[in-house]
Parts: sequence; C-alpha cells; structure tokens
Amino acid sequence: MEKIVIEGGYRLQGEIPISGAKNAALPLMCAGLLTRDGLTLHNLPLLADIKTLTQLLTELGCKIVNGHTVTILTPNITSTTAPYDMVRKMRASILVLGPLLAREGEAIVSLPGGCAIGNRPIDLHLKAFEDIGATIELKDGYVRASGKLKGGTVHFPTVSVGATENILMAACLADGTTIIENAAQEPEISDLAHCLVAMGAKISGIGTSRLEVEGVPELHAAEYTVMPDRIEAGSYAAAAAMTGGELELLGHNLKEVMTGSLDMLKQAGLVFTETDRGLLCRLGPEGRIIGINAVTQPYPGFPTDMQAQLMAMMTLCDGASVITETIFENRFMHVPELCRMGADITVNGSTATIRGTNKLLGAPVMATDLRASMSLVLAGLAAQDITEVMRIYHLDRGYERLVQKLKVCGAKISRAPADGV
Ligand code: UD1
Repeated sequence: MEKIVIEGGYRLQGEIPISGAKNAALPLMCAGLLTRDGLTLHNLPLLADIKTLTQLLTELGCKIVNGHTVTILTPNITSTTAPYDMVRKMRASILVLGPLLAREGEAIVSLPGGCAIGNRPIDLHLKAFEDIGATIELKDGYVRASGKLKGGTVHFPTVSVGATENILMAACLADGTTIIENAAQEPEISDLAHCLVAMGAKISGIGTSRLEVEGVPELHAAEYTVMPDRIEAGSYAAAAAMTGGELELLGHNLKEVMTGSLDMLKQAGLVFTETDRGLLCRLGPEGRIIGINAVTQPYPGFPTDMQAQLMAMMTLCDGASVITETIFENRFMHVPELCRMGADITVNGSTATIRGTNKLLGAPVMATDLRASMSLVLAGLAAQDITEVMRIYHLDRGYERLVQKLKVCGAKISRAPADGV
C-alpha cells in the first residue's frame, strides 16, 4: 500500500499533458469485442481500470498488449461470462454485456452490486436489451442475457451514460434499426459512436439525445484515437486556481469537451485562454476564487465527476458556495475529510454549503472513491504543511502519472509506503 504525501502551499506553473479519457477508453475497448478484425486504439491512458478491463477482455478471448496504443484482436470469443471478481473491481465491466450479446447471442455478467458513491443499479441497461429482443434472467447474482437482437425503440426514462453505451454497441449488430431516445450526450458517447462508425456501423444523431442505429451483419477493423480526459483537465484547472498558479493543459479540443465544467470554472474565477496546444488556465486579475451555485447534471450540464474537485476549490472561495449533487445519492464522502483540513462545509441532503476560508491545513486523510481522492490532493496542494492521502489505489484507477505531472509544475508531492491503510 502507498500513500501520497504533499507539502502544500507551492504555486503551480507549467504544462500538463492531458491523458486519454478513462471513461471513453473503457467503452472503446469493449467495442473491440464487436469485430473479429482488430480494433487499434491510440492514446489509451495507462491506468488500473484499463488493466482490469484488459484482463477481463483477455478472459473473453481478446488478444491485447498493454500500452498507449493497443490492438484488440478477437477472432473468436472464447467465454461469454464476466465473473463477479472482475465486475466488482470495476463497474464499467458491465459494458461487455452489449457486445457479447450482439456477437454471440449470449452474455452472462455478474451484477455489479453497490459501490461507494451510491446504489448504481443496471435496470436501465437490462430493460433496453429487452426492448431490442433479448431475454434477461437474473440468477445467483448474475445476469444472463440471450437471444437474437432485432431493432426496436429504446426510451430511457433517466439519462444513463453506461446504458446508452451498452445498447449503442449492441444495436450495431442487431437486425433492423434501433432508435435510442433520451440517450446520454456525453462526449465519451460521441467518441464511442465515431469509433463504431469507423468500424462500419451506421449511426445517425451522434451528439444528440436521439440516436438511430441501422444494424449491419458485421463490423470491421479500424483505428481510433481516444479523446482527452475532460475530468482530468478540469481537475488540474482547479489545481491552478487553488495554488494561484498558471497551467497550460495540453490536448486537442479541450474547450469543446469541457463544456459544462468550463462555464462553472469560469464563474468561479478561472480564466481560460486557447493556445496552439491546449488551454492556459489561471485565476482572473483579482486573483480570487468566487463563490458559485452548482448543480450536477447530465452533459452538457456540470459533471458529477467534477463535483468533489469543485468543492475542494470552493473551500477557498470568497463568500459561500452551494453545490447540489443530483446524479448519485452518496457522493459527498470527501466532505468530512475536507473539513478535517479546515474546510467549512455543511451538508443537507443532496446539497452542500461551503463557506470559504482563507487557509486549509494539512492532515492525514482517507480517500473513498476516485474523484473524492482528487479533491483531497487538490486541498493538500493548497494547504499549509503536510497532507497525507491514504488509499491511493482509487487515484491510480483514473489519473495517469498524477505525481509526476504535478511535480514538474512545482508541487512538492511524492508517493511513500503506507502501513496497511
Ligand atoms: C458513468 C461514468 C461515471 C460518471 C457517470 C455519470 C464511466 C465508466 N463512468 O457512469 O464516471 O460519474 O457516468 O456521468 O463512464 N442508473 C439507474 N439504472 C441504471 C443505470 C443508471 O438507475 O441501469 C442511475 C444511476 O444510479 C445514476 C444515474 O442513473 O443515478 C446516472 O448513472 P450512469 O450515467 O449510468 O452512470 P455510469 O454509466 O455508471
């Protein structure tokens, strides 16, 4: 076990290359199951979640070598079962269900169970598969989906990123046309759809809430580059603000993919300037963080995956801020830890009120999920003295080379052994 040790109070200045998006890379890798030819993906982030999915896909019959560029080759699917051990480690494993079902007529995937940030059921995925002809059985903690998929209309009562991705992949190989209504519009879904089109899928309405997919008998080889990670970019923008620094975030189309967080970060006092290579970010001329009122929403609203980081930033705002979480019911677990560092936050149901303070104090803190961990790192960068963040395996799931990226910009941050925590 390791921890991250931060000596706070240093201004960050420099360049941060933004990695490929974890939440785009995971479904894109699953799309590799849809063709017997190879799918080559560039700009994959090297993260624990990517390794876990590589392991699962290998068990299902894919041949993959780890790296920033991978080719996923699946001449034959050798197993249609995603076991509990894998799905438990990473909820996104559920995304193999659609491709397996579409290609093999059967998929057996463990139910993911609860997770730290809330209940997170998969009912929307299952109902959508039924809508296009699958039979679903639940037994011994597993979902068994089977049947020949035929087109149909799927109307999601609630917007779901994962369910939209799962059904989109499956519909590509279904007989006939599938209409997906109230589809999630996150840029990671458009990334997946563009990759599927490169593989020969027929999809229209990409980027909108109504996707139309005309099934084809098979998909073929393709090469695709994973989009930049808008959440990683937003997290480092918050680091620039909280340390009074200036960071150039390197990546293509950052401004477009960060819609939602960018508006909120601007309201909070950050100024973004487009450069040849990305986005330069720093606080405005007054050099202060401004209190905001933020509500998490599906894209293009403010993303739930930026909520914890924005809250860390708001601990240092002028005045007060209110942040409401509408996507997940238990996503304020960073609050008590931030309070241990001197933050003044009260939670009432799904709303947190943050009264700005002029200093945070270093402390040992414990991370409970990926984005909560990042909020504690951000607080540590701005706090006086030493902060130790335990349970950093959460961070390794989603932030590539976090310590190195921050170090070259002047942060005093390192990894150290932790005693069994
Ligand atoms: C994805 C992202 C995650 C992000 C989330 C919301 C990946 C790998 N993960 O997760 O980082 O926080 O989108 O932007 O891309 N729901 C149901 N039934 C379902 C499915 C979802 O009730 O069958 C509910 C969830 O409990 C939640 C809401 O719908 O309240 C949104 O969840 P969803 O968009 O599906 O999140 P994920 O795809 O799991």
